[in-house]
Amino acid sequence: MSILSGKKILLGVTAGIAAYKTAHLVRLFIKSGAEVQVVMTPASKDFITPLTLSTLSKNPVHSTFYDQENENELWNNHVELGLWADYMLIAPATANTLSKMSNGTCDNLLLATYLSAKCPVYFAPAMDLDMYKHGSTRESLEKLQEFENIMIPATSGELASGLMGEGRMAEPEDIVSFIEEDVLSKLPLKGKKILITAGPTYEAIDPVRFIGNHSSGKMGFSIANVAASLGAQVFIVAGPSQETISYSLVTRIDVVSAEEMYQACHELYEEVNIAILSAAVADYRPKNVVDQKIKKKDASLEIALEPTKDILASLGEIKKDQFLVGFALETNNEIEHAISKLERKNLDAIVLNSLQDKGAGFATNTNKITFIDAEKQLTSFELKSKSEVAQDIIQEIIKRLHA
Ligand code: CTP
Repeated sequence: MSILSGKKILLGVTAGIAAYKTAHLVRLFIKSGAEVQVVMTPASKDFITPLTLSTLSKNPVHSTFYDQENENELWNNHVELGLWADYMLIAPATANTLSKMSNGTCDNLLLATYLSAKCPVYFAPAMDLDMYKHGSTRESLEKLQEFENIMIPATSGELASGLMGEGRMAEPEDIVSFIEEDVLSKLPLKGKKILITAGPTYEAIDPVRFIGNHSSGKMGFSIANVAASLGAQVFIVAGPSQETISYSLVTRIDVVSAEEMYQACHELYEEVNIAILSAAVADYRPKNVVDQKIKKKDASLEIALEPTKDILASLGEIKKDQFLVGFALETNNEIEHAISKLERKNLDAIVLNSLQDKGAGFATNTNKITFIDAEKQLTSFELKSKSEVAQDIIQEIIKRLHA
C-alpha cells in the first residue's frame, strides 16, 4: 500500500504545456489511494480542461474565487482548501507562478491557496531551458526552498520549443515516487523496528480442544497499522485472530500457544527498538496435552494446569535499549496494580485498561486507556475507537523516544 493512501492531495496546475501530463498524475494519485482536489490558474485551462481533471479526480475543479456565471454560488474558500490538504503539489510550476509564489503575490485562487496552506508544499518546475537558467528563476527556486517548499527538480530532454535542455517537468511516475519517498523519509518512526504481540493464545488440552480467551487482536493490529503508517518496520506476533494488516511493511508471524509466542518474541527482540505486548496470553496451560481426543465419561474431569512463561517479564529481564510497553487489564486499585506491574516487569510504559470503564477491554471496537510511563506520569484518554487509541499509544511512545 502506498504511503499516500488515504491522504488528501491538492494539485495546483499552472499554464505550461506540461499541464497535459497532470491527467496522468491525478490518475496515479487516485491509484495510490489518495483523495485529490485540483486548483487551476485560469490560463492553465488552455492546456487541459477542468472537465478532464474533475472527472479523474472525482471532485470539482476550482480556478476562480467565485463563479461569475452563478450569482448564488458560494466563494471558493482558499483557506479551507489549504487546510484540507495533507500535501500540496504545484505541477507544472511555471516561471511566472514560481516568481509570484516567492514574492507572496496572490492574484489568483491557486496562489491564495498556496499562501494559506499549512501542509508540506511540493513544486515541479516546467519551462524552457533559458527561462529555467535565468537568474530571476534561480532566485525564485532558492527562495521557495528557503520557505521550506520542496522542489521536484526539472529534468533534461526535448522541450516544447524543440530545444534540448533542462526544464522538462519530472514525469508523473517520478513525481509520485519523489513525494512517497520524501514523505516516508520524514515519518517519525522511520528506521525503527517494532515488535507487537496481539490476540489470544490457545493452549491445547487434546487434539481438538483448547483453553483460550475472547481477545480479538484488534488493539494489537491497530497499533501495528499505525506504527507502519508512521514508517516503522513492524513485526506482529499474532495469536489466532481474524484481523488483517493493510501495510506491506508489516511482517506477520502467526502463533497459537504462549510458548510459540514466547519463542517468536525472543527471536526478534534483539533487533527491535520498541516492543509493545498487547496480546492476551494465557497464564496457564494444561500440564499434559493428551494425544487422543478425551472421551466423555460420567465422572467429572480435572485438568491439571501449569503456568505459561511470562513473555513480557522475560523481555524486561533482558532489556537493553528497547522501549518496552506492556498492557494491564485491571478490575480494582487499577493504577496501583499497573504501576507495580510496570516496576516488576522492568517496563518503560504500561497501558492500563480498567474493566470498570464501559467499552474498554476485550472484543469491543473501543477502548479507554491510561498511559503510565516509568516516571509514573499518567496520561488518561477518553473512550475512543481502537484505531484512535492506537494513535494515542504510539504518539505517547514517540514523545518519550525523543525525550
Ligand atoms: N503477558 C505476557 N505473557 C504472559 C502473560 C502476560 O507477555 N504469559 C503480557 C501481556 O501481553 C500484557 C501484560 O503481560 O502486556 C499483562 O499482564 P497480566 O496478564 O495482566 O499480568 P499478570 O502479570 O499476569 O498479573 P495479574 O494476572 O496478576 O493481573
